[in-house]
Amino acid sequence: MQTVGVIGAGQMGAGIAQVSAQAGYSVLLSDMDQARAEAGKAGIGKQLARAVEKEKISAADAEAALGRITPIGELAAMAPCALVIEAATEREAVKRTIFETVGKALGPDAILASNTSSIPITRLAQAAPDAARFMGVHFFNPVPVMGLIELIRGLATSDATVAAVEKFGESLGKRIVHANDAPGFIVNRVLMPMLNEACFALGEGVATIPDIDAACQLGLNHPMGPFALADFIGLDTCLEITRVLFEGTGDPKFRPAPVLVKYVEAGWYGRKTKRGFYDYSGPEPVPTR
Ligand code: CAA
Repeated sequence: MQTVGVIGAGQMGAGIAQVSAQAGYSVLLSDMDQARAEAGKAGIGKQLARAVEKEKISAADAEAALGRITPIGELAAMAPCALVIEAATEREAVKRTIFETVGKALGPDAILASNTSSIPITRLAQAAPDAARFMGVHFFNPVPVMGLIELIRGLATSDATVAAVEKFGESLGKRIVHANDAPGFIVNRVLMPMLNEACFALGEGVATIPDIDAACQLGLNHPMGPFALADFIGLDTCLEITRVLFEGTGDPKFRPAPVLVKYVEAGWYGRKTKRGFYDYSGPEPVPTR
């Protein structure tokens, strides 16, 4: 596998492109247009420059990695890729259109994988050119820091596809875990109920936002408390995945907490809108209730 395609140059796509380029792959990075793909590459350049400043990588390695990333504006340019990873917006219709478009360009052996965090892989595979060469490859944010990839096979995914993507993931230095195509896979099945439960606890007046965060951070040795993490992931994303768990299992234990629903209805999505459980407009995050 020489050339890897990454569709979506946002936070996840840029992270996947960065670690792939650092592992020596040529990367074609696409977004809705050339300008957005270029902006994604510029962001990766900043991340790599920071890594050089911290003396984590050499300036020569950073330059070489950045040089291996080519921004593209048209999915047709993905033709040389042996593996294409889709990390576009988490909307099924958008992903389906992408698969249909890129599918026309890909060679007969190319593998298409989705970084979806919640959409069933078997269902998404219906829009791919070949369900046997389609699977889920779920990275975690921030991609260069997080050491895990979840691999999810759909009903029709072939063993050869799983083996090839596993080899690719390992070559990035990530630990691979295999999950069945069940709602939330592994991480979100476990994580989202915790974040949702923190919202129930807040709504019931058990404790304040900073105390619940401090309790989990210091009492469980988590890098962030649940509200800081939910803001980091995006409250809209957390709610969406919680709904997938609820609807996919039919189990009331996954019902979304009213506080979480309320924040999303207010458009308070977390860091990306500068306000969620904390307000990020000042020098330090301030709890919003
Ligand atoms: N890109 C690259 N590197 C980054 C980064 C980014 N966006 N953000 C932070 N880092 C690096 C920093 O450079 C730093 O590296 P060194 O220690 O080598 O200098 C290291 O990460 C720690 O960063 P900071 O000191 O700035 O801040 P921190 O100690 O508070 O760590 C954090 C930040 C890494 C985000 C940490 O708080 C953390 O691990 N939080 C939990 C993240 C998490 O759970 N992610 C999974 C979310 S779920 C998901 O992604 C899947 C889904 O489907 C929803």
